[in-house]
Amino acid sequence: MPSAALTIDPAFTIAPVNRRTFGTFVEHMGRCVYTGIYEPGHATADEDGFRKDVLELTRELGVSVVRYPGGNFVSGYRWEDGVGPREDRPRRLDLAWHSVETNEFGLDEFIRWCEKSGVEPMMALNLGTRGVQEALDLLEYTNHPGGTALSDLRERHGAAPYGVKLWCLGNEMDGPWQIGHKTPTEYGRLAAETARAMRMIEPDLELVACGSSSSQMPLFGSWERDVLRETYDFVDHISCHAYYGNDDGDTASFLASAVNMDRFIDSVVATADHVGAELKSSKKIGISFDEWNVWYGERSRRTDDPADAWEVAPRRIEDEYNVTDAVVVGNLLISLLRHSDRVAVACLAQLANVIAPIMTEPGGAAWRQPTFHPFAITSRLAAGDVLRVQTSSPTVSTAKYGEVAAVDAVATYDQGKLALFAVNRSAEDAVEVTVDLSRTGVTGIDEALIVHEEDPLATNSVTEPDRVTARPFEAIELADGKLTITLPAISWMAVSLSTD
Ligand code: AHR
Repeated sequence: MPSAALTIDPAFTIAPVNRRTFGTFVEHMGRCVYTGIYEPGHATADEDGFRKDVLELTRELGVSVVRYPGGNFVSGYRWEDGVGPREDRPRRLDLAWHSVETNEFGLDEFIRWCEKSGVEPMMALNLGTRGVQEALDLLEYTNHPGGTALSDLRERHGAAPYGVKLWCLGNEMDGPWQIGHKTPTEYGRLAAETARAMRMIEPDLELVACGSSSSQMPLFGSWERDVLRETYDFVDHISCHAYYGNDDGDTASFLASAVNMDRFIDSVVATADHVGAELKSSKKIGISFDEWNVWYGERSRRTDDPADAWEVAPRRIEDEYNVTDAVVVGNLLISLLRHSDRVAVACLAQLANVIAPIMTEPGGAAWRQPTFHPFAITSRLAAGDVLRVQTSSPTVSTAKYGEVAAVDAVATYDQGKLALFAVNRSAEDAVEVTVDLSRTGVTGIDEALIVHEEDPLATNSVTEPDRVTARPFEAIELADGKLTITLPAISWMAVSLSTD
């Protein structure tokens, strides 16, 4: 059996674990909101119409922050449609997803849902069809204490100031599919002016400028540079979005998707630091990886077909994930944690039904996709400082990324607790992994879990919701400060250890 050697040392600190790494995303798209998180009349619905089964799963998933209300949706959205008495709210065409938006759920409901699920809201602004004034109006409604038209309106709607700190200045503004998409200079100017004006109301907001929609976009690199040249002094973070799929059947490359995420983050950090150097600024820009996931374009129904009926909450991109997808998601989280020195926020897109870890049936059950498990376990066990894991591993040949390490890992270290997260990206071979823990004062294994099945394409469904789950991991031994693990092909594992 091929073997790998890992070394963990508490001195190899990258940065503290950032809870905002465990964010997700709720967009008015398909059934994420309607019959996802919100379904009045459902057997589990609470007094606000929120599905309690989904609220419970959201808490179990360990979500820290949720981005809202889009996504592409936000670029045609009028936030004021979604506040105040429900009977007065207009129905609108949603051009992004070719559906009808009833506005039954809006900002006030979202903030209440965040309070109930214990997550921090991250609001996205419409900079597609709108601009500075509407952003200021939304900020006044959302956060201003009172005594002005919009803060008093919120008060009349029964709400105290929401105190939202984290704001995205638009969404994917480089994408030709985006309503009101822009050149980097057009967008950079608008984002800078919006940010500057918003800070006149609240100087300490955290603001995210749009980076490229993906690292495959034609302007990737120069978009970030040009946008940051306009916005550097006014924003805190720049966004990254990445979706990985296995449509072409190149499973070896798909399993190595985190190599692409590593390079993507490193490139955007380098570009941001280059602009910082040009500006002679000591400020560092963070990465808001506010959309990431596995997404099978081919498996999803096209949504831009004009013949599509204008429906309310139609089924859109309800990808069914398998074990291999879960291993990739676990590895992407390893990449995000490894970049905790620069990744300020990360949002798994999305939360319910739409390329989501949580699935629901209208009027029926809610269940966990295989991808739910690595996310929930990483969020639960990662604590203290993130540690770089020194890794020597056999390699796997991939068409897209060349030779890549089969085993990839990251660790976290807290007072009395060490957690190791690892994947085997080989589709063929199990790997025997030895982990040198001699510098960690480790005393015992508390918990070890694995996501792996004989059938790497196994999935969950409403009739078999727990076919794929995280199972107790037996092939792991601790002796003389050394951990020995047999990691099967296509697997993700986590182990939590006690230390002196
Ligand atoms: O998450 C689905 C869509 O993917 C989002 O609306 C958009 O921002 C991205 O292209």
